[in-house]
Amino acid sequence: MFVSFLQFKPEFGNVKENISRIQNLFNTYLLENNQKPDLLVIPELANSGYLFANFDELNNSSEEAGNGIFYESLQKIADENFINIVAGFNEKAGDEYYNSAYIIRPDGKFDVYRKLHLFDSEKKWFKPGDKLGIYSIDVNGEKINVGVMICFDWFFPETARSLALAGADIICHPANLVMPYCQRAMFARALENQVFTITANRIGKDINGDKDIFFTGESVILDPKGNYLARAKTDSEEIQTVEINPLLARNKFLNPNNNIFTDRRVDVF
Ligand code: ACM
Repeated sequence: MFVSFLQFKPEFGNVKENISRIQNLFNTYLLENNQKPDLLVIPELANSGYLFANFDELNNSSEEAGNGIFYESLQKIADENFINIVAGFNEKAGDEYYNSAYIIRPDGKFDVYRKLHLFDSEKKWFKPGDKLGIYSIDVNGEKINVGVMICFDWFFPETARSLALAGADIICHPANLVMPYCQRAMFARALENQVFTITANRIGKDINGDKDIFFTGESVILDPKGNYLARAKTDSEEIQTVEINPLLARNKFLNPNNNIFTDRRVDVF
């Protein structure tokens, strides 16, 4: 199967512009490449941007899950191209907001994952999720297990480990990374869990009042041996695609004597 990340710069608070940037990047990609992805991962908070100053801003760029223009535009891309999409968005649910990700399938069925580990001032705006993000998609007649974690979730190795134990073949990782560690750390998350990982990061800066925050780009795709299959630049909008065999992630043996799941000393841990 073919998997891709889309790396771009959202414009803070401008949902329509962000939809159009994603559509333009994807349409240009299709014109220049004859390989459609089966699975496309788009960064965290891709509808809204990141640096909120108040709840009005949060509200104005949010949508109810499955009921908004961001969802509709992604579902259209998924339907028209017969692809699966994992994309971060600012979710409103009643009076609460979540830093969430859509899992959108070409058959119209979708799921929503809510970020478990909120970073820094996100704690002011969002509620944390309370469920692990494990889902299934159909690719070439095969059920592929997709785990989802959002940005800072990576810092807690239990997230990726729990997803792998729940059967994830591929961990999709929409991100708005600000610290300089994750792109290197994903080597360990992929290797120690023997899974594929797709980190789709954003680029650029959000500026709001006297605050600004800079994002590190360099989206990465890794295989279960920790090989970097794709790596974006730190500052360019781009889509990169690689071919993977997700079923390789189901073999947890490193050699005939070591299985990374059954060797775990859960009796001691
Ligand atoms: C982050 O979790 N967006 C740093």
